[in-house]
Amino acid sequence: MISIPGASLNGRFRVVLVAATSVFLFFVLYNFIDYGSVPLAEAQRPHERPYGQSDYVAPVVLTEDENAFVEVSSVAQGHVQSSTPTPTPTLSSSSTFSALASEISPAPLGAIIAASMHTTNTTWMHKLSDSWTLYPYVADNPFPPPELEIPRNKGHEAMVYLTFIINHWDALPPRMIFVHGHRTSWHQENDTVSLIRSLRLPALEEVGYIPLRCDWYPSCPAEIRPITHDAVVWGPGVHREDAENGIAEAWETLFPGVPIPETIASQCCAQFAVSRAAVQRRQKADYERVREWLMETELEDDVSGRVLEKLWAYIMTEDAVRCPAPQECACDYFGICAVRGWPEPPEGLARWPER
Ligand SMILES: *[C@@H]1O[C@H](CO)[C@@H](O)[C@H](O)[C@H]1NC(C)=O
Ligand SMILES: *[C@@H]1O[C@H](CO)[C@@H](O)[C@H](O)[C@H]1NC(C)=O
Repeated sequence: MISIPGASLNGRFRVVLVAATSVFLFFVLYNFIDYGSVPLAEAQRPHERPYGQSDYVAPVVLTEDENAFVEVSSVAQGHVQSSTPTPTPTLSSSSTFSALASEISPAPLGAIIAASMHTTNTTWMHKLSDSWTLYPYVADNPFPPPELEIPRNKGHEAMVYLTFIINHWDALPPRMIFVHGHRTSWHQENDTVSLIRSLRLPALEEVGYIPLRCDWYPSCPAEIRPITHDAVVWGPGVHREDAENGIAEAWETLFPGVPIPETIASQCCAQFAVSRAAVQRRQKADYERVREWLMETELEDDVSGRVLEKLWAYIMTEDAVRCPAPQECACDYFGICAVRGWPEPPEGLARWPER
């Protein structure tokens, strides 16, 4: 006879046990209800829209209609049960095909890679879909479409960013904009749509890496001092010391043979645009090594994510201190040139040049 735990308990305990089990099962199953296991429709796979080929018709032409996008984006995130693929136009000759292609669908400028969670509202992304290919990763989706899979939900946005670079290494988009997936946040000077639309692409070509934040607060110009641990900082800086220690400990693993810089600083918050050339400054194996560290580290996500947050600018530019003056950053990179008051760094910190 099989003995059932709890069977010998009295009635009241059994009721409590059943109730607790039900609540537990509800929460376990709830996470799965949100996601269908419907694979992304063939026509909507983001990687099937290549970059820089003028004779290519994107299978799906997304409209500016908000509702239209909700459907597509839901499919991309595996949220809906079924979808009706948009029929691909049938054309009689390849020259007509090319002519039509350049009319309907110019090659995308690059990719927007969002490291979102299933609670993040990423519908704003559709506003940019005419110019950018969208990769709305949902880090906590247990059944993502294959092209939006990550090996593990670990290390916050870093896992998504690294995985995108590694998976697309052989055909990297000409420009990549890495974002969290929210449209607005305290650490953005404007909403993400406006920031991306105003981003000056020639400046990106030139400098390779542009933060989506120009304000120096709270990270520039000297946030991380991994050798002397004597940084003068702006604000509270959540996990700042942990991140500093984490960088010191991980450095040799992340960048073997490279001396650790005295000061590491860049505009905060792990959202930035990069050119393909900037990403390719390093080898694929370098990004794989960094992701391997992220997979293996015992640091909590809040810290490991921050270790890399502080290093993106260095990874992409090799400048340990990458702090363009705020006014210059706003004007040169986003065309927002009206002079405005930026917070002054506290005593003891370098000041930015006048402009
Ligand atoms: C998501 O954001 C859009 C606007 O960008 C809004 O219209 C929509 O209601 C939002 N959805 C939810 C579930 O909040
Ligand atoms: C945000 O962007 C919009 C559109 O480009 C612009 O009109 C607005 O002034 C910007 N706001 C700030 C605070 O820069």
